[in-house]
Amino acid sequence: MGNAECGAAQSLIGAAEYRVTMADGADWTLLHYTRTPRGSLLRFHAPLLRFMQTVYECTGGGYPRLEWITMPIKPTEPRFTRWFAKHYGGFLRWRLRVELDELWLAVAATQSTAARARSRTPATGATAVAETAAASPAPPETPAHEHILGVVGANYDFSRAGKKRLGGTFHRLLRTAGVEERPERMGFVELLAVLPQHTRRGIGAALLDAVLAALRGLGKTPYAVTFPGLDAALRLYEKYDAEFYEVRGFKWSPADKRGLDYIVVRFPTAQY
Ligand SMILES: CC(C)(COP(=O)(O)OP(=O)(O)OC[C@H]1O[C@@H](n2cnc3c(N)ncnc32)[C@H](O)[C@@H]1OP(=O)(O)O)[C@@H](O)C(=O)NCCC(=O)NCCS
Repeated sequence: MGNAECGAAQSLIGAAEYRVTMADGADWTLLHYTRTPRGSLLRFHAPLLRFMQTVYECTGGGYPRLEWITMPIKPTEPRFTRWFAKHYGGFLRWRLRVELDELWLAVAATQSTAARARSRTPATGATAVAETAAASPAPPETPAHEHILGVVGANYDFSRAGKKRLGGTFHRLLRTAGVEERPERMGFVELLAVLPQHTRRGIGAALLDAVLAALRGLGKTPYAVTFPGLDAALRLYEKYDAEFYEVRGFKWSPADKRGLDYIVVRFPTAQY
């Protein structure tokens, strides 16, 4: 995909209410949402769909992969937005309604929050996030898509309604990869993405730190399932001393005719 197509998506982001200026990683903050027994993460569907469309356009269809689509259309085509909403929107809805147990969003801080954060001792990465979050006013309930800079989710409670079969499939995927894990110890890093204009600024690492800490705190072994070719993610996981296991031709169900290639990523259970 060419830069022009990605540029079109960037102008969408330029319409943000306030300017996003990255200064020492201190003008964005991490918001954390946990599913309540009756609640749902579905309210993030609209902003995350637009966020993911931008990631898809700017990674040239690298992520989200839409691996079930055999003939993807180009982002330059006029009907692209509707096409993406149709094909990825339903999957994202399922992820938010059923699959994900927790969600983290990196969002652009308001100017006042950013100014306050900058006046504090300069810091980077996760420390900066913690400081900024402490200085922030109550976060908006549902951030607008143009304020979302990054996202990650956690998937671990396979006892919840609608997730039992999914847990079995994930367990089979790990076994196919040659990884033995007790189902109740499985925890997955899901949906990790950073807006392409804001990569290499520590946001991805901060999101990963947050989800890994949550999974480890629950006594889970953290895993991610990714695709060959997503090199930025693979390099990032490498930095976390992850182990990689290739899976060739995995079928998600007996009816699945495709058989896709994945990389199962296993993170250390404890941080060291
Ligand atoms: C993977 C991704 C989330 C990383 O986000 P990010 O905010 O750029 O990550 P960070 O800035 O925290 O980078 C941390 C480290 O990861 C590695 N890394 C990240 N992007 C890299 C790249 N393009 N090339 C090589 N290494 C990279 C580096 O080691 C980097 O540390 P450094 O900048 O000090 O060298 C981002 O590139 C992305 O959204 N990619 C598309 C979506 C995707 O593939 N998701 C994975 C789904 S499983």
